[in-house]
Amino acid sequence: CGIVGYVGPRPSQDILISGLARLEYRGYDSAGIAIIDGDGSLGMRKRAGKLSALRDELSSSPIADGTTGIGHTRWATHGGPTDANAHPHLADDDKLAVIHNGIVENYSALKDELLAEGYDFRSETDTEVAAVLLGHEYRSNGGDLVEAFRATVNRLEGAFTLLAVHKDHPGLVVGARRNSPLVIGIGEGENFLASDVAAFVEHTRHALAIGQDEIVAITPSGVEVTDFQGNAVEVEPFEVTWDASAAEKGGWSSFMAKEVSEEPEAVANTLRGRIRDGAVAIPELDGLDDLFRGVQRIIVIAAGTAAYAGMVGKYALEQWARVPVDVELAHEFHYRDPVIGPDTLVVSISQSGETMDTLMAVKFARERGAKTLSICNTQGATIPRESDAIVYTHAGPEVAVASTKAFVAQITALYLLALHIGAVRGELSPTEVAHQLLELEAVPEKIQHILDHEQERIEQFAHWMADTRSVLFLGRHAGYPIALEGALKLKEISYIHAEGFAAGELKHGPIALIEPGQPVFVIVPSPREAPVLHSKVVSNIREIHARGARVIAIAEEGDAAVLPISDEVLRIPLADPLFGPILAVVPLHIFAMGLATAKGLDVDQPRNLAKSVTVE
Ligand code: G6P
Repeated sequence: CGIVGYVGPRPSQDILISGLARLEYRGYDSAGIAIIDGDGSLGMRKRAGKLSALRDELSSSPIADGTTGIGHTRWATHGGPTDANAHPHLADDDKLAVIHNGIVENYSALKDELLAEGYDFRSETDTEVAAVLLGHEYRSNGGDLVEAFRATVNRLEGAFTLLAVHKDHPGLVVGARRNSPLVIGIGEGENFLASDVAAFVEHTRHALAIGQDEIVAITPSGVEVTDFQGNAVEVEPFEVTWDASAAEKGGWSSFMAKEVSEEPEAVANTLRGRIRDGAVAIPELDGLDDLFRGVQRIIVIAAGTAAYAGMVGKYALEQWARVPVDVELAHEFHYRDPVIGPDTLVVSISQSGETMDTLMAVKFARERGAKTLSICNTQGATIPRESDAIVYTHAGPEVAVASTKAFVAQITALYLLALHIGAVRGELSPTEVAHQLLELEAVPEKIQHILDHEQERIEQFAHWMADTRSVLFLGRHAGYPIALEGALKLKEISYIHAEGFAAGELKHGPIALIEPGQPVFVIVPSPREAPVLHSKVVSNIREIHARGARVIAIAEEGDAAVLPISDEVLRIPLADPLFGPILAVVPLHIFAMGLATAKGLDVDQPRNLAKSVTVE
């Protein structure tokens, strides 16, 4: 869910709505706002559906504008996406409005308690329980909103960000967080609270990161942060490094189209300033050499697309750093009994830095004594704050739900890390490191080449395939996770059944799926750089071609071996087997986007999904 709060001299409605528009990628099942106007009355509107439904509601049934307000865009967990279940939720005779992100796990016990006290409920949500409890505490303590907040959050279990306004306290927004995101934006005579800096970056780039289990009260002139016990705490200021235009569509038809076009830049920016004299120079990793020398095992944890980036990284980490690597889905890693200890390095990967599954797995790894390193794209996010070390990807804000530019940036960061660890451990000579860095630095230009020369053709091709009901993807070596990513992208945004397989696994089962006309994308390694892998993949193509599959090969320019056995060949520039996959994913991103567009779907906000899933 996305959360925004404002206090200051300006009318807040437009600020809240435009903040929500920038947070809509976090959930778009319903949206709502609550505003306290100059006369101290509280107006609230909420609607199921995308933000546009709320905008319509506000124009047909306006509320008085005022300078204190909160807004919410929801990804439904407790209770379906209905008007009643949308946030804000009101309590204390409709004088108090509350919005929430996360899950209150003990809501049912609390609800029973409040029902016994005689309170009524209007929705099925856990949030309303928090709102009613807050109203109850507020009344009991004689009207101190911050203290009532403290009493309330101490009774809640689970993960949450909560924001509240009360009509008797114009000019005050109170918030709290536990394992869910919340950042403060510092303006002049005005202050903001939000799930993500994107909500306020058009007004200010000065931000404060709030820690776990902290409460914040903002007024037009001040910010006060305390812990759940009431002690004042220091907060960490940071500057947002990008401006509002970076999170705007510009002239593009969708955020996804814009973000795919930014893939070259995402790689280049993640490398920028991190290569010196042919060696990796990442200041964030200073002082970690002993750790890298002593580490016996690396476990990469992530979810979704980030996990596929992790799988690509495994090939590089094992080849260059010679450390055994496992890649695990964060939610699976956490709830088994993994063998980890001080000589295990857990590398988490997360674009948002907020994915709850990944966050919980990182905390668990630390508790078990492992060292943790976070690869993350979002400043001030929770996962890097909970980790021993951070390597930021510099892909810039990613808004479309389906991850694209962040994926190539994640692989880039992993490759830098692998080369660095390889060098520290003496597994790679300086010459070898310098050579691989040159390959890495050539990637942005090669991706640009694909965008310039193949994009239109791939989009056209996707258009022809708009009626397809199932697509398979095959790859070997680091091309295997790319096949998985290609399939995921298609599922996410075009709702087509898609599956990725290791090409060698085909004959052990999936080949039974091949019937005449079945489209199969095959990621073909370089014939020059990886002749053995290449010939194996060509054999795999023969096996499916002979059975009538419609083969779409993603192959290097000049590779003629694929021509007689493919129906379509999408070309990528020459690269070695570790670098080819970063290129091969680009046509797959373009294809998924082209197909979803041809089907008339909303590529940026696919059904049922949210970009940042802050529940487990
Ligand atoms: C959600 C998104 C996916 C994303 C995954 C991990 O499920 O819909 O596109 O890959 O979360 O997100 P993260 O922010 O941790 O990289």
